[in-house]
Amino acid sequence: MKILLTGGTGFIGSHTAVAMAQSGHEVILFDNFCNSDCSVLDRLQSILGFRPAFEEGDIRDEKRLKEVLQTYRPEAVVHFAGLKAVGESVQKPLEYYDNNICGTVTLLRAMQQTGIKKIIFSSSATVYGMPQYLPLDEGHPLSVTNPYGRTKLQIEEILSDLCASDPQWSAICLRYFNPIGAHESGLIGENPRGIPNNLLPYVARVAAGQLQAVQVFGNDYDTPDGTGVRDYIHVMDLADGHVRAAQYSQTHRGWIAINLGTGVGYSVLDIIHAYEKACGHPIAYRITERRPGDVASNWANPQRAFELLGWKARYTLEDMCRDSWRFQQNCR
Ligand code: NAD
Ligand code: UD1
Repeated sequence: MKILLTGGTGFIGSHTAVAMAQSGHEVILFDNFCNSDCSVLDRLQSILGFRPAFEEGDIRDEKRLKEVLQTYRPEAVVHFAGLKAVGESVQKPLEYYDNNICGTVTLLRAMQQTGIKKIIFSSSATVYGMPQYLPLDEGHPLSVTNPYGRTKLQIEEILSDLCASDPQWSAICLRYFNPIGAHESGLIGENPRGIPNNLLPYVARVAAGQLQAVQVFGNDYDTPDGTGVRDYIHVMDLADGHVRAAQYSQTHRGWIAINLGTGVGYSVLDIIHAYEKACGHPIAYRITERRPGDVASNWANPQRAFELLGWKARYTLEDMCRDSWRFQQNCR
């Protein structure tokens, strides 16, 4: 298939570009570089042996989008482009609504006008809010606690309305759990600007000596060791989930949500200890207050992804930490 990846030079988009190209799909990457840069294209070229097609642009620019869609005529769009920092979304809600929601509506309008009606959307397990039961399946009630989460939920609803209005549309909302790790080449990975908000990039920088100690946000949760438990998934497993979703979109019509997670939860301390094994030395940490808005535990029921896509996570926590550490050493 020919597939356009909005946000294609970002963390998940770049890994998905590799998996898709290596599965024989033709990919076109579209990005405004607000959270990535063009060196990713050189790195993709090193991994793939050719440079993937790239178009610079903003998803809020309808004219530019239509130009790109008309030029390449992709069969489907995988929509990664968006802002993703929870804390920042609380400070700057309008930027999040504009970029994520207005950007998606603009993209959908451009797709509709060019007759491209298959979309795979980067949603998040954040739409489940406070878990009422575990593991989280797609039928779990939805709720959100911050503007970032609200953009994900509203986009899911917009896609559902669109599919209800026109039976030719296919919208697959992939609800990611906690993507970590990097491509095995160590050439692409997650390298956030400034101090990382998420656990793995923070642990990686402490391991590399760039930050002093991991702050463990609370050890009094109702979990085996008292620290927060999450479903960490290797980014290449996530990428494979997109390849399979793209194949599924060829026959699927209507709206559907599918979890992409492993079904297994690990605590903050499990992660720190697994990373210590990967990097070969101790990682300093200290216990601090709970982070507001955090839940104790969160992991997926990935059954639907297996039934509909034939997808199952393959990488272990050891693989995730090893690949993250390899990338971290390359981006010093
Ligand atoms: P990322 O920031 O690395 O990638 C997003 C890419 O989109 C960046 O390259 C950025 O430059 C681009 N972009 C942003 N706004 C744009 C715009 N208006 N026009 C064009 N390009 C734009 O983030 P990621 O981790 O790769 O996440 C990809 C998607 O997955 C996001 O929608 C995110 O919300 C979602 N998601 C991520 C996680 C996670 O933990 N990383 C979890 C759940 C969902
Ligand atoms: C967070 C977001 C979620 C988003 C996801 C990916 C919140 C409340 N949730 O998920 O909406 O989809 O990132 O961007 O922000 N932790 C520490 N120390 C740290 C960082 C994290 O102890 O320095 C702990 C957290 O308390 C949590 C676990 O590590 O228990 C994972 O945190 P994080 O990587 O930020 O992911 P989530 O909070 O699950």
